[in-house]
Amino acid sequence: MSKKFYITTPIYYPSASPHLGHAYCSVMADIIRRSKALMGYETYFLTGLDEHGEKIEKNAESKGMTPQEFVDGVAEKFLALWKLLGITNDDFIRTTQPRHVSTVQKVFSRFLKEGDVYLSKYKGWYCVHEETFWTETQVGKEHVCPECGRPVEEKEEEAYFFSCGKHLPALLKLFEENPLFITPTGRKTEMINNFIAPGLNDLCVTRTTFRWGIPVKEDQKHVVYVWLDALLNYVSALGYLQEDDSLFQKFWQDPDSEIVHLVGADITRFHTIYWPMFLESLGLRAPDRIFVHGLMMMKDGKMSKSKGNVVYAEPLVERYGVDAVRYYLASEIVFGTDGQFTPELFVDRLNADLANNLGNLLNRTVSMIGKYFGGDLPETKADLDEEDRKLSEAIRECVRSYGENVDSLKVTEAYRGIMDVLSMANKYIDTKAPWALAKDPGKRDELASTMGHLAMALRMAGVLLSPILITKAGSLFEQLGLPSGLQTFASLEDIYLPALRVEKGAPLFPRLDVQQETEWLKAVMAAPKEKAAA
Ligand code: MSP
Repeated sequence: MSKKFYITTPIYYPSASPHLGHAYCSVMADIIRRSKALMGYETYFLTGLDEHGEKIEKNAESKGMTPQEFVDGVAEKFLALWKLLGITNDDFIRTTQPRHVSTVQKVFSRFLKEGDVYLSKYKGWYCVHEETFWTETQVGKEHVCPECGRPVEEKEEEAYFFSCGKHLPALLKLFEENPLFITPTGRKTEMINNFIAPGLNDLCVTRTTFRWGIPVKEDQKHVVYVWLDALLNYVSALGYLQEDDSLFQKFWQDPDSEIVHLVGADITRFHTIYWPMFLESLGLRAPDRIFVHGLMMMKDGKMSKSKGNVVYAEPLVERYGVDAVRYYLASEIVFGTDGQFTPELFVDRLNADLANNLGNLLNRTVSMIGKYFGGDLPETKADLDEEDRKLSEAIRECVRSYGENVDSLKVTEAYRGIMDVLSMANKYIDTKAPWALAKDPGKRDELASTMGHLAMALRMAGVLLSPILITKAGSLFEQLGLPSGLQTFASLEDIYLPALRVEKGAPLFPRLDVQQETEWLKAVMAAPKEKAAA
């Protein structure tokens, strides 16, 4: 029976057109899911929208729409973007869907029954933008939100509270027993020092001052706090507390299923502190990992609509293709740390890795096989000399470490490792000097082995890069004349190749003109938002 893997992105606020920062997490989740599937896991990938809350209500009002009309419009934009980026999510949960509403109401009833929520009064500082209450210390003398810097409002209202104290020991035990629960691990210290050590207050889990939320069945003037509502998407989408809960049984309840939530650094607290407590209260297991990825930064800080420094994925995909955009996100930004988008980095990364290292290697290899063997590459069964042996060893090691890196979510390392082998293969051409071997009829076998080893490196790269290069990997396989049975991860157990009939095709990634493209990118980044995202 294959092992199971459940991966989620946060559900996005449908407050505006999604930018490259939002796309980042979905692309990474998609790459991880495809990599795991390649390695034989049975996978399930969820993303969606977080459609309730005061911010959405206010946004819709300012546009003269009902909240539902407003979120329906934005949902279309997200779906179109995911399609453009080749995102293969299995489900798209929207928190206004009846299936989700029903799960949230049932969960709330359970909390009430278990005595995990109680009615009291809330007084505190509220940031509408972050949908979060803060304490006096957190907002400081200036009374601004510690997360986004906007002014906060003082609010008092009757509210239900979730008792955190009762679940704190289990949370601390979880942190201790599963050291990778919060990855990268430095984030755990941050959570403990900033939120747990100063004393964890009970969490306010209902609101009465606006209506755009899920009503508490037992007390209809309250709507469920948007974060409790939102976090439950990870189980409601699987059918938890619904008639058909087979996906929930398969991907959450089965201990053989690994559960991973990807989250941005700004929403770590809710996922690592409150979410496990809610689950514990429901008698459900915690996810295996909350992986905290970094943020996409611009020269002037985090990419965000409110800063007006956003880059949209659409024009980039249109000009450079979906594979190039996916590759940039996975390789330039070390997964788990903040990363930058600049026109220079973008063009350099694509030129160095995709045009030169990969594209040019394929082009040269296929051309040489055409020239020296009329396109018919004899089989490659073994290594003839030390140079062959070193390249074969690097290919094997790359396959092995790819598996390990993907399993431990070191995505950037997994993909950079492939580029290292391709660089080595490019140097191997210079060392072996096939043009010289071709002049000596006594060196036909060595020449064939050299071509064969280049094809072996390219085949390995094509297979392992296929979760990122969703269109171009196919063209690489085609040019190498590689049968489908040799395009799988499992087939890489044998790195050698049978006889192949290769055929030159269009260059995979044409080299970009650095000056022309950086100028084009700068112009797109400066374009009005509507135009850039159109
Ligand atoms: N709705 C909540 C999440 C609820 S999950 C149960 C939310 N939505 S959001 O739209 O504001 O953010 C969604 C995700 O996008 C977050 O993980 C956030 O970190 C990420 N990003 C928003 N801007 C980003 C960048 N500039 N770079 C990388 N990720 C960014 O929070």
